[in-house]
This record gives sequence, C-alpha cells and structure tokens, in this order.
Amino acid sequence: MPHDKASGATPAGPCVLVIFGAAGDLTKRLVMPALYNLARARLLPHEFAIVGFDLADDTVESWKKSFREMLDQFIAGSNGDGKVDEEVWNWITDRMSYLQGDLNRSESFEQLKAKLEEIDGSAHTGGNYLFYLAIADRFFSVAVDQLGKSALACEKDDQWRRVVIEKPFGHDLASAKALNRQILTVLKERQIYRIDHFLGKETVQNIMLFRFSNGLVEPIWNRDRIDHVQITVAESVGVEKRGHFYERTGALRDMVPNHVFQLVAMTAMEAPNSFDADAVRSEKAKVIDAIRDLKPQDVAACAVRGQYKGYRQEPDVSPQSEVETYTALKLNIDNWRWSGVPFYIRTGKKMKARKTQIAIRFKETPVALLRETAQPPNWLLLRIQPDEGISFEFGAKIPGPATQLGDVRMDFKYEDYFGTAPATGYETLIYDVMIGDQTLFQRADNIETGWATVEPILEYWGSHRPENFPNYAPGSQGPKAGDDLLTRDGRAWRTISG
Ligand code: BG6
Repeated sequence: MPHDKASGATPAGPCVLVIFGAAGDLTKRLVMPALYNLARARLLPHEFAIVGFDLADDTVESWKKSFREMLDQFIAGSNGDGKVDEEVWNWITDRMSYLQGDLNRSESFEQLKAKLEEIDGSAHTGGNYLFYLAIADRFFSVAVDQLGKSALACEKDDQWRRVVIEKPFGHDLASAKALNRQILTVLKERQIYRIDHFLGKETVQNIMLFRFSNGLVEPIWNRDRIDHVQITVAESVGVEKRGHFYERTGALRDMVPNHVFQLVAMTAMEAPNSFDADAVRSEKAKVIDAIRDLKPQDVAACAVRGQYKGYRQEPDVSPQSEVETYTALKLNIDNWRWSGVPFYIRTGKKMKARKTQIAIRFKETPVALLRETAQPPNWLLLRIQPDEGISFEFGAKIPGPATQLGDVRMDFKYEDYFGTAPATGYETLIYDVMIGDQTLFQRADNIETGWATVEPILEYWGSHRPENFPNYAPGSQGPKAGDDLLTRDGRAWRTISG
C-alpha cells in the first residue's frame, strides 16, 4: 500500500539498509541517531536490518559500541529525559551487522550480496535494499559502478533498490554532469536520492506549506508587494577540522548551489499542482533556471567573496589561501512573479552568530499617512534556525496623545506550539527513501541548474585573484563589500545578532 504522509506516518515496508562508510563521521553523528529516532517513533518496519560496510577493520560489536557512545552524547545534548530507551536500543542493535569490505573490490560486493540474501531469508526483508553512500565523494561513482556490476542495483518484481548520495554532488557543472551521466548508466532516476540535508529541516519544509496552505500569503507574495528578499545562512563556527575539504571547496561551492538555492527555490517557486515529487521538483528547477545568467562583467558587481581573519592559520589550510569563507550575491529572477525584486543571499563562516533566515521586505505604502514620523518597514521573517519560527514586523501607534508609530513584532515559535523532539534532521529523509518519496531529494536537473547558475562566478573568481583577503573579522557581519552590495541599491542587510 502506498504511504500517504498527509494522513500520518506509518512504518515503512520491509527492507535492508546498507551503509557504505559505516565507520565514518556522518554515519555516527547523523545516520545512526536518526535511525534510533525512527525506531523510537515506530516508523521502521519489523522486517528490517542494517548492514555496515567499511574498509575499517571493525566488528559488529565495536560498531555498536561507537554507536552507543554517539547516542549517549546525542541524547544527553537534546531536550528529552537524557536516557537511551533500552528497548529501542535492543530492537535496533539486534538488527545490525557489519561487513569489512573494499569499495574497489568486486569480491566485497559478492560478499555483500551473499549477506543480503541470507538476511532476506532470516529477516524477511523482501529483497528491498537501500544503499546509503556515506562516503567521500570521489567514491560515489565507484560504489554505484560496483552495485551495477554485482547486479545489486537491479530491481526485479516487487523488489526495490535505492541509492542515497550525499553531497558534494560534483565540484562544478562539468563534474556534476559527468557524475549524473555515470550513475544513470546503472540506476534509473527513480532509484537515486541525492541528499541536501537542508530539506530535512522542518522549517525548510514548512516554507512551502506556509506559502501554499494559507490563503492570506500568496496574494502578497510577488513583485507588486515585495521590495526585496534577503536570505542569510550565517555560521559562527569556522572551518573546524575540515580545512582540507574546504580548501578545495570554499563557501560558494559548499553552500550556494545546494542549500541556499533550496531556500531560494522554496521562497520563489510557483505552487506545484500537487505534492507529488516531480511536480514539486519541476517548480523548483524552473525558479533556479529563471535566475538571470551573470555575464563575466557583472560578477564583480553582483558577487562578493570574503575570508575571515585567522582562516589561513587553520589546520590543513594554506598560509596563502585565497579560498572564500563568505559569499554574498545579488540574484535577479526573471519571471513574471519576481521581475525587479532582487534576492540578496549571503553565507559565511565565523560570523557574528549562527542564523539562517529568510527576510521578506514589503514595499512601503504609496503615501505616508504620518509625514512627520518615520514609517516602520514591514518585514516577514522565516527563521529557519535557531529559534525556529515566523515573525511579522510592522508599525503600530505608540499609546499616548502623540500620533507616532513604533516597530512591533508578531511572533510564532515552533517550540511554543509543537515542543521540540530530539532530531538530527535525517529522520524524514531516511524514512522518505524507505517509502520511496523523492520530494525532498534533488533530481539530476535540480543539481545541474544549481551548478550552471554559479558557474560564471566560479570561472571569474578562478581567473581573478581576491584583492584583500582576509577581509573580515571573526564574529563580525562579514566584509564591507557584502554591505556595499545592498548599499548601492539603497538597502541594507538586517543585522545578524546572537
Ligand atoms: C554542510 C556544509 O553541507 O552544511 C558545512 O558542508 C556547513 O560547511 C553545514 O557547516 C551547515 O549545515 P547546518 O545544518 O549545520 O546548518
């Protein structure tokens, strides 16, 4: 029976989850705690098994031990009672096994195949396999190739085979296209689940529901009423221990074509005909496709890069590094809804505070009623994280004999209405793969349009050295050039505050 999430979530059907990169950080920090949460919510099927696959010389016992350590930390850091639910723990660990294997060796895949057949026989998992590639991106195509050669990717009768691919999906347009081309020789698009973990965030999923399920919102959501949009994805942390990765990546590649464009697409898309995966993904692709192409001569005016002071001293970072840790862009969306409404986006490390927010600035009234007093602007704020919620800022009369306006704010906080359940953000994504719902995953064209849009900037930056790196202080609002991007248009960023 197909799962209808609108009428509540029910346990997924029988399957085996194979995690490539079982000993890695992502598996430990996010995938396994998410599985625990799913088990706790009774959303995993009874006929379920997890196979950890990794080059590391682990055993199922050592794998369980490191899972337990991580889970204890995760539970202690969340708002629950601080204890692991032992019944759930036993349920899940009873279903775990480990296979030491090498992605490059076909023998390892033969062993995996034999193991999966054995599990199907004993746990009645029905030959349905979910392969989770929690591995370095250079191994994505190797793993998919092996799944093809060993026939593990081959669906037959009622047996499904699905592959989850983490980011980064490509390094630029050419490499993303090449990867798509390669994996599509083995898999059908309907078998591929390209993860963008921002889509696992409740508040990101809510953007679409807020817009299209409230009659009040859509009539004002266009160029007639909106002056401009600001999207901020600010982090207070630096590159931490990821210098090696970041030196090849930088802020633009790391955050913009994927996470930030998801926020742009959710904010700017037309209403899909349904919540069907392809209906939603097609509308999102259309928005990103409508972003005006930047000509090389426009890049300097519309794209800013910055580097925080101290980045060059981080581990695994070159002392002469010219990699950006901040970027701000002005985007124009050339369609009927948004023509003339700039979308300013910024993302950076080591900024004043951790804040992901979409701020919609409405146009002023045609005539100011009170000429002597400043008219407060109207802002709608979608707070993605932290302090998840939605606020509306507007002007109200300050009580008293004078006729003056003050800035006030109506506030909705998720916490007040729905409480907070400990979650990693991967629960919905993993559950969706199990039930075969691709809505929250990137289709090949979504990925390629994202890369195509940033390609001119990557090219321009690749051939023009940054002039003044490092150019912003840790804990600041970012470089001055980021502010100038808006000042030139007579606008200003909202202040990032902690
Ligand atoms: C990742 C980036 O995809 O997203 C990181 O590689 C970044 O550099 C992270 O810190 C931000 O995600 P979140 O969920 O912490 O906001």
